[in-house]
Amino acid sequence: MERETLASRLGFILLSAGCAVGLGNVWRFPYITGQYGGAVFVLIYLLCLVFIGLPVMVMEFSIGRASRRNIADALKILEPKGKKWHLYGPVAIAGNYLLMMFYTVITGWLLYYFISSLTGRLEGLDASSSEVFFSSLQSNAPLQIVFMVISVAIGFLICMGGLQNGVEKASKIMMLGLLAIMLLLVLNSVLLPGAGEGLDFYLVPDAERAMEAGLSEVIFAAMSQAFFTLSIGMGGMEIFGSYIDKKQSLTGEAIRIIALDTSVALMAGLIIFPACFSFGVNPGSGPGLLFVTLPNIFSQMRGGRIWGALFFLFMAFAAMTTLIAVFENIIAYWMDTHGWTRKKASLVNMVLIMLLSVPCILGYNLFSSFAPLGDGTTILDLEDFLISSTIMPIGSLLFVLFCSHKNGWGWKNFVTEADTGEGIKFPSWLRVYVKWILPIVVIAIFIKGYFDIFSAM
Ligand code: ALA
Repeated sequence: MERETLASRLGFILLSAGCAVGLGNVWRFPYITGQYGGAVFVLIYLLCLVFIGLPVMVMEFSIGRASRRNIADALKILEPKGKKWHLYGPVAIAGNYLLMMFYTVITGWLLYYFISSLTGRLEGLDASSSEVFFSSLQSNAPLQIVFMVISVAIGFLICMGGLQNGVEKASKIMMLGLLAIMLLLVLNSVLLPGAGEGLDFYLVPDAERAMEAGLSEVIFAAMSQAFFTLSIGMGGMEIFGSYIDKKQSLTGEAIRIIALDTSVALMAGLIIFPACFSFGVNPGSGPGLLFVTLPNIFSQMRGGRIWGALFFLFMAFAAMTTLIAVFENIIAYWMDTHGWTRKKASLVNMVLIMLLSVPCILGYNLFSSFAPLGDGTTILDLEDFLISSTIMPIGSLLFVLFCSHKNGWGWKNFVTEADTGEGIKFPSWLRVYVKWILPIVVIAIFIKGYFDIFSAM
């Protein structure tokens, strides 16, 4: 069976950006920025993207393009004989499943909010009734299951349509729709009365506010966010490298994708923070920011029903493009490694992911007394922690070592692949940084982050 490839360069960029742009940008980034004090966090996050995220993304694309396989096979193909790098392959694939175990649930919430907003059910909600609205959704397991199942089914049906006609086409349409809606929402938000205070909070660094959160926690959160938003460390980007030709060098492509991803995250903040300040609500309210704080804001806004519906549609598109991209990675694994057809891989995994998503839902009702990471935390927090603060950084570290050390794929092979084609080349003077400093930085921040989280429990 001949391996499929993507139809166009734009398709590759939008598909990879679609994988990157997701809840990380529109849900996690704004609330974490709110919690960690605003602009200082944003600044550190941008540094993490450039100095950690960018090299790792180029490495994933290079590993994919050189091997023409999903991550589980790729490490095996590229490693020197007798080495054990490929043992990480199944862990990376497991990471894709783990991410989906809660991602599908939140995508379901977004679809539910989109429909509720469109049908006027969010109208007239104040602070306490929007909290009741959200907690009644969370306590209703069957309702959440229905919306999760719809999200998973849409995602897999698109993937079943094929790489070019399903995945690539749908991602292109959704990404372009998302960018258009986003611009409208930003305009609406920054023109609200009192929006300036929100912009200050978001864009003007205030060291004191960052110190309150604790500088090391801010750095760990920024680094985890950088891994999460780029979907790196679990082969999420690697797969798209395996679908492209050698006409373009990979550093330039990665820069474009990161720039798109970052613009969406920054714009999501530009939508949310001015609105919070304009209506006098706290932007540091944590994960509930999207589902509790914002409905309350939209219900006070003129034309709030339409703005709310557009907002949740924007969020749902962002989440769906990630679902499709990660499902594609999972499907590719079963096709490449086990020789399954696309249809079989799609159908079996559709059912499997629906089942795997149930524990996260039950974490809000049946198992609500289970607080795996300390008071108030849920199964979702545990799954999120395992993927964004564990598998993604460890995987990224392994990719860095794999691409820069002789007993892995090695620097020369990596740079040759990354630089093949037209466009920006990977800076060779970064070798010492990538080989020694980057791994040490990632390990240090990672250990410190773990220590802080568990000592606070
Ligand atoms: N990169 C994906 C996101 O940002 C996981 O949501």
